[in-house]
Amino acid sequence: MARLVIVSNRTPGKGAKAGGLAVALKDAIEPGTLWFGWSGRLADKASDRATVAQEDGIDIATVDLSRDAYQNFYVGFANGTLWPLLHFRLGLMEFRREHLDGYREVNRLYARALAPLLRPDDLVWVHDYHLIPLASELRQAGVTNAIGFFLHIPFVPSSLYAALPRGEELLNDLCSFDVVGFQTAEHRDDFLDCVKRILKFPVDGQGTIAAERSVRSIVTPIGIDTQGFQNMAARAVKGRNTRRLVESLVGRQLMIGADRLDYSKGLPNRFEAFNRLLTRFPEHKNSVSFLQIAAPSREDVSEYAALRPLLNRMAGDINGRHGAFDWVPLRYMSQSLARSTLAGFYRIARIGVVTPLRDGMNLVAHEYVAAQDPADPGVLILSRFAGVANYFEEALIVNPHDPDEIAEAMHDGLAMSLDERKLRHGRLFEKLKSLSARAYCDGFLEALSGAVPARAAA
Ligand code: G6P
Repeated sequence: MARLVIVSNRTPGKGAKAGGLAVALKDAIEPGTLWFGWSGRLADKASDRATVAQEDGIDIATVDLSRDAYQNFYVGFANGTLWPLLHFRLGLMEFRREHLDGYREVNRLYARALAPLLRPDDLVWVHDYHLIPLASELRQAGVTNAIGFFLHIPFVPSSLYAALPRGEELLNDLCSFDVVGFQTAEHRDDFLDCVKRILKFPVDGQGTIAAERSVRSIVTPIGIDTQGFQNMAARAVKGRNTRRLVESLVGRQLMIGADRLDYSKGLPNRFEAFNRLLTRFPEHKNSVSFLQIAAPSREDVSEYAALRPLLNRMAGDINGRHGAFDWVPLRYMSQSLARSTLAGFYRIARIGVVTPLRDGMNLVAHEYVAAQDPADPGVLILSRFAGVANYFEEALIVNPHDPDEIAEAMHDGLAMSLDERKLRHGRLFEKLKSLSARAYCDGFLEALSGAVPARAAA
């Protein structure tokens, strides 16, 4: 059987940050799987020799980056240019040629470090926007394996994509993969539209691009291990942290949000929505608490650093205006919490608030639904611009740009009858089962394995 090689900027292992991805890929990982990426360390000089370590039966190969490479590749192009562009935030996009050049150089370095580790029949599965040029660079290093790419974040319509200087280069890079996967049909269609309009490559009715090679574009939404998370939540609810949280609420209802501290997550609008809930529907005063957990992220990128003081101020304003001597309406933590702790918190929260301005998928929505007690489930408020909204129609769908609409959904959710909550949750839970981590891995790897005979015949 072919060996699977996973490539992502973050790798799993001790103290690593590929947590969400590692969970999603759990079913695809077998003893012997190779996972390649950045070590998370900065060295004086970047090296194109990987260090390989074994952890939990898999081989993890990593390289260090130099500070310059990190600045240009990660802070500059990946998170200062591509991230805002692909989240529809042209106003936040900053482009510098040296960032794009540095981004390509790191991809070349990764390719040089990875190529000697590959065996002829390995299936190579590359993840996310940091690594768009990787297949081109691997091909230049002589690699002929089947290589697939999955984009975890949205793609944009061609009119927006056209703003990216040298954007055709990256589209051509995407056409060096054998399979390119997206979270939703909308993201894939936008990508295909760019390919047709900008590169002028023909695309057939199945979404196969006739580039130098035949490139299949597919939709394989990422998922979680639903049963595993449900069990984790049921266990966590009996644990110390959830019990302490319940005690601290003294009978009040809980609303919860958990995100990276990222401008794409719509946190200022969410805070403003909570402010409006308490202003327009004062019956909720002193009877609901909103816990927002925001894990620090990408603090070297200026837009991220700017978000923190804004949220601090808004949280202070809301608590100053609405709070009482025995009630803190908004509990705001700019810290990360363990997934198992969150699972218990989700289970006892009457409302889960997932209101990104744009999001590839958003697995917090999956986790919130999976964590609920089916006998007394909570309500999910969901942005129509999260990829998951394409699948979760039974959530309370909102436009995250309208704080009043979010506030009304909060009000409706707090008042929703048990029967309606059960009905909506039952349907969401069924969908969740088909959107599993296993379906994601099987769907993608089936397409990638299919690319092998096609390429051999070409
Ligand atoms: C998103 C991206 C991932 C990224 C993660 C954490 O989920 O799609 O590729 O790894 O955020 O961001 P970071 O910049 O810390 O890797």
